[in-house]
Amino acid sequence: MPSLDDSTRGRILFGGDYNPEQWPEEIWLEDVRLMKQAGVNSVTLGVFSWATLEPRPGAREFGWLDRLMDLMHANGIGVVLATPTASPPPWMGSRHPETLPRDEQGQTVWWGSRQQFCPSSPTYRAYAAAITEDLAARYAGHPALTMWHINNEYCTHCWCDGTARHFRSWLRTKHGTLDALNEAWGTAFWSQRYDAWEEIIPPRRAQYMRNPAHVLDFKRFTSDALMECYTAERDIVSRHSPHIPVTTNFMPLWSGQDAWRWAEREDVVSVDIYPDPKDPHGGQYNAMIGDMTRSQARGPWVLMEQAAGPVNWRGVNHPKPRGLNRLWSLQAVARGADAVCYFQWRQSRQGAEKFHSGMLSHAGEAGRTFQETSRVGAEIARLGAQVTGTRITADIAVLHDWNSWWADQQDGRLSTHLDYADVVRAWHRALWESGRTTDFAHPEHDLTRYRLVVVPHLYLLTDTAIDGLLSYVRGGGTLVCGFLTGVADEDDRVRAGGMDARLRELLGIGTVHEWWPLDAGGTVECEGFLGTLWSEEFEPAGGEVVAAYKGGELDGLPAVVRNGRAWYVSTLPEPDALRALLSRIADDAGTRPVLTGLPDGVEAVRRGELLFLLNHGRAAVTVQVPGSRPELLTGGQVSGSLTLERHGVAVLGEAVS
Ligand code: GAL
Ligand code: ZN
Repeated sequence: MPSLDDSTRGRILFGGDYNPEQWPEEIWLEDVRLMKQAGVNSVTLGVFSWATLEPRPGAREFGWLDRLMDLMHANGIGVVLATPTASPPPWMGSRHPETLPRDEQGQTVWWGSRQQFCPSSPTYRAYAAAITEDLAARYAGHPALTMWHINNEYCTHCWCDGTARHFRSWLRTKHGTLDALNEAWGTAFWSQRYDAWEEIIPPRRAQYMRNPAHVLDFKRFTSDALMECYTAERDIVSRHSPHIPVTTNFMPLWSGQDAWRWAEREDVVSVDIYPDPKDPHGGQYNAMIGDMTRSQARGPWVLMEQAAGPVNWRGVNHPKPRGLNRLWSLQAVARGADAVCYFQWRQSRQGAEKFHSGMLSHAGEAGRTFQETSRVGAEIARLGAQVTGTRITADIAVLHDWNSWWADQQDGRLSTHLDYADVVRAWHRALWESGRTTDFAHPEHDLTRYRLVVVPHLYLLTDTAIDGLLSYVRGGGTLVCGFLTGVADEDDRVRAGGMDARLRELLGIGTVHEWWPLDAGGTVECEGFLGTLWSEEFEPAGGEVVAAYKGGELDGLPAVVRNGRAWYVSTLPEPDALRALLSRIADDAGTRPVLTGLPDGVEAVRRGELLFLLNHGRAAVTVQVPGSRPELLTGGQVSGSLTLERHGVAVLGEAVS
């Protein structure tokens, strides 16, 4: 199987989405000149080119792409070639309305933007396969081709009649019989029993709350239906070019795709990361997505898209202050990326994204954005061969599962303030701020290589996952579970006692009498810290109470319980408290920060033999580093200490004696 090494060949890929069809051909030459100036060695072509390639059904216009592929090759720039299937041309919806998605209310989602396709539509799939086939046949052997990029950020959902038929066949495969489905969905409730498969529809707009197990299966189905579209195109391009790796770009921590399952079907895992430049914890978000993507990839990964400056889809879109583009780009490399790419090369002058930044902004080559991006390109080139293919080892894993997220978001839950992704982020932040490197893992993965496993909040845990956690702790691992974990089984059926009995026994806690979610912004006092978001009413059963709730209804009841190497945290401690708690547990488990004594806001990551130091702060800081080491970005030597400027980065080689 091809891998990312086949694309990088010892260089970190640097470049971005290139949409030359938006520009007259004379601009292409100027693009190439500036790309070389900026250190670009990779462009992603064709992501939204369907209407240019196939202006009317069955037509093929490959001449322009031939010229571009040749131009890139002649200039030493590799091409990540996209199948254009994320944005069907208007003719498709106009001639084949059944390819257009319907929303939950049955309303058509029209053309005029992008991504207006029903993943279950055989017509859409046939057109997508045909253009993919011809594209692959034509360019499989082209020397510029380094990777296939299937579709773009698969994210459409559809509730149409065609989807209903497809959903039914998926359900038949999963449940076998209608009786089994009725049982799994608990359809005895509210007279929902199905008497024939044809009665089952996608969970459309209804009078009142919908059946959560039905909605959960629909989320699973939608992820799988999109994955079928992906694998169909992947198989076509792989048949033509078995030596070229295939990817599709994920949205980060996006609820629509079970990325664990998808990643298994990719040669290369790639992701698009857009932290808000205004977010004081944007660096942690970047780190978290890097950790998650590296874990899905089980090694180096691709940062397929980021912004050199502002995006244009937030309420207020802030540019990146000086140094931030460089910091976050090198941070991705520190956390395992072998490719640093942007959306997009040249900022558009027309269309919905004309205010979204590009590597080459409206300000042109003299503009700050281009100048800073070019510096990143030069530095990335310097790191190249010493970095690509190298690994990061972590002895802590954060468990994350889409099934649990989906079950968590349902109608009829106890608190709409509970945001799964925010809780995961809070726990990752605590570990990140404590200077420890973490992987992510699926709850059914083999966890034995980790000293510490944390479960920020997995409301749904399968029996297999619970078996795994039990044997992990029995085998010597340390486990910390956050609130509302292990409550529901695979079908979103609440387990007796409010949490799986074996898990309660492991954690040393008794029946959960009640869950006590907090009001927005509310806190609950616990011994030594404040809890947020959530609290729970239960008694210890064998576990030691590490901290109790203070005052209020839960006064004296346990907030944090420990049973040997298994911990339960029934609230979300405020950030400092969570960091202190997890640091203590992580120390006991034998994990260590990458470096100790770092100034606030400085991140240290070890990748292969290299030590990356990243200053997320806006003031210069001095960092003590043991020994005398080469610094790769400047080519200098560092002994004892070094100064990191605002948003500064250093990449240190091994200490020389
Ligand atoms: C991504 C998408 C790109 C571009 C970018 C803007 O979601 O893949 O095509 O729209 O966002 O931030
Ligand atoms: Zn549909």
